[in-house]
Formats: sequence, structure tokens, C-alpha cells
Amino acid sequence: MDYGKPYLRGKELDQLKIVEHAYLYIVNDKVVDYGTMEEMNHSANVVIDCTNKMITPGLVDPHTHLIFGGSREKEIALKLQGASYLEILNMGLGIHSTVEATKNASINELQEKALKVIDTMNGFGVTSLECKSGYGLDEDTELKQLKALVNLTNNMNIKSTFLGAHAIPKDSDSKTQLSKMISFIEKYKDSNLFQFVDIFCEDSVFNIAESEEYLLKSKELGFGIRIHGDEIKPLGGAELAARIGANSADHLIGSSIEGIKALGKSNTVCNLLPGTSFYLNKSYAKARTMIDNNCIIGLSTDYNPGSSPCENIQFIMNLALLKYKMTPKEIWNAVTINPAYSLNLNAGTLKIGSTADFVIWNAQNHEYVVYHNAVNDVDKVYKSGKLIKEVV
Ligand code: NIG
Ligand code: FE
Repeated sequence: MDYGKPYLRGKELDQLKIVEHAYLYIVNDKVVDYGTMEEMNHSANVVIDCTNKMITPGLVDPHTHLIFGGSREKEIALKLQGASYLEILNMGLGIHSTVEATKNASINELQEKALKVIDTMNGFGVTSLECKSGYGLDEDTELKQLKALVNLTNNMNIKSTFLGAHAIPKDSDSKTQLSKMISFIEKYKDSNLFQFVDIFCEDSVFNIAESEEYLLKSKELGFGIRIHGDEIKPLGGAELAARIGANSADHLIGSSIEGIKALGKSNTVCNLLPGTSFYLNKSYAKARTMIDNNCIIGLSTDYNPGSSPCENIQFIMNLALLKYKMTPKEIWNAVTINPAYSLNLNAGTLKIGSTADFVIWNAQNHEYVVYHNAVNDVDKVYKSGKLIKEVV
């Protein structure tokens, strides 16, 4: 898995370094060697037989909203009656109802709930992820969400993103909200509570000019930047992300061809979230056009209580095959090396010296997991050389 570069883009994405009949030699928490069984000359205290199985790096999920109170199944009736995601939000429900539930939850409650989600994600093969705040929208609750993530578990590498610009509080307006959130970033900039800043750039939420100013200010303050762009309406989020050098541009369902071309010339990772298109019954991002235009692609669950209540990254891989028409090799790179790059995370590859985060699969090849639909193909998950999950 050593590609000699930190990400794969465009045509390069359709390659995988595969070792058949392989061994992987781990000492403590590190990968020390690998190769074919024929050339193996190590002896080991513990031997894990992987006959008829596959080993891959632990997967990386680069876009989740997994720290929140409550759930939103009560909105199903509205959805079935035809109310859109933005209509539900504008009724004061949607994100606002999760904000209410998150305000009312204690930090311990948030942590317990998040740990269950993380445990489920570990079981699907994920060992690194990004998690956003954004269900507080005020100082105290945003802070509670971010603090809840600190040292939460050893079983998951977590990068935190401040998403105080996720919605406009019911009694406020976009300008007031953004100026409060900038004050938050300034106040907590040395706290180590978050590494990235994100914004929901969308019709009736934050527009392009506001998002640009906010993200540039966050960048100046030393943060990496991410953007929820072109999720529902094609506002120009792709162009914006490329223009300001975002670490990732996420969703991109309605991005224009100019926006896609601009991303293909940038180092911004296009994090695509097919589970959200599926759950909102929307069209799908144009992944093939992005790959043809040399983009760096990542895939994620977008796990959240409204638009993607789904922890299963393997289902996302199935959707990427069927709906995006990505190849199995492209898909594996989009859940390992590329999302790790978008998070500045040393993960997502198994090379000599890397941390031993890996998954043993009940599969004999990489195509099988992508093809076998909506179930879990994981056998065992190891984090830093330790068995953390065995799926029976
Ligand atoms: O990525 N669109 C904004 N944020 C989330 C949804 C959050 C929610 O509905 O609670 C998303 O789709
Ligand atoms: Fe999201």
C-alpha cells in the first residue's frame, strides 16, 4: 500500500497494491514487515491464520456528525408526505430539533451515545474518522460537543471539526450567527478542541460570500477548512472550495462542470456522500466526471440523525459502485488513503512503519466486499496492533 504519495487522483485512483498469499508482521503497534508467505522469515509469538481472508488498512470515514442528542424518526411522516429536507429545516425541525435535544443532553449522555456509534463503526472496519460539532449553535453547547470528543476512546482516531455554522438559530440571522461563531473560533483557537472549521453553504442557510469570508478567516486563524457545498442547490460550493484551498469539499451533488474542473486542479479532496443522496431521494454526485477531471475522491457515511442515519461504510461502498459507477479499486482508495489525506491523518495505508490499524475480512478479494450488498463482511478489526472487534 505504499504509493509513495499521500493521495491518488483521477486515473491513478484505479490501482491497488495487492499482495497475494501474504503475511503481515506486526510488532507492538507498528507494521514492521509484509510480503509473500514464500519469502517470510520471521517467527512470531502470536500467529493469526488468515487463510481465505483479506487484510486491508483500517477504513477512514472523513465526514460524520456523530455527537448529538436524540434522533429524528418522528420526521418520517413529514418526509413521506413529500416535505423536502430544507422545508423541514425551515419549519424549525430538522437540525433545530437535534440542537434542542443536544442542548438538553449532559456531556456524559452525549459520550455514551457516541461510543455506541463508534463501536458500530469499528465493527464495519473503520478505525479513523472525522466528527463535526454543529448541534449547539451557541457557545456552551458547541463546546460541550467538542469536549465530549476529547480522549473519548482508544479504538478510533478522531479529528474534530467545528461546525457552529451548521444552521441559523431560530431567533437569529446569518450575519449574527457567523460573527458569534468567529468569536468562538478566536476564543478557542489554542484549545486543541478542533482541527477544522466547516460551514453549511446552502440556499436559506449560509451563502457563498458569507461562507468565503468565514472560511478564509478560519484559515487565517490556523484551521483546516471543509465545506458542505452544493448538497441541495448548486450554489458554487465546488468553485469556492477550490478557490480558497479547502482540505475537503463535501457532498457536491449539484456541482457545475466549472466547479469540478477547478477541484481537479486543486488539492481539495471531494468527499462524496452517496448515503445522503440515497436517504434524501436525491440525485447522485457526478463521481465519474470528477475522476475524469483529475479530482481526488473520498467517500463517507455522513452519519447524522437527519440526512444519513447510517453507520455502515460498506453500504456506502456498495452505493459508490452502483450509483457512482466507481470501480472497486477506486472505492477502496476512497475509503483509505484519500480521506486520510483530507484529514492530515497518518492512516489509511499499511506500509512499513505505519500504525497497525487493519481489518481482516471474510472475503477473498477486494471486489467481494464492494459487491456483497448491505451486510458486514468484517471478521476482525485491529487498532494499534490490538484486537478491538470480532464480528461473529
Ligand atoms: O451533511 N446538511 C447539513 N448537515 C448534514 C445533515 C445534518 C442533519 O440533518 O442533522 C448533512 O447532510
Ligand atoms: Fe454533513
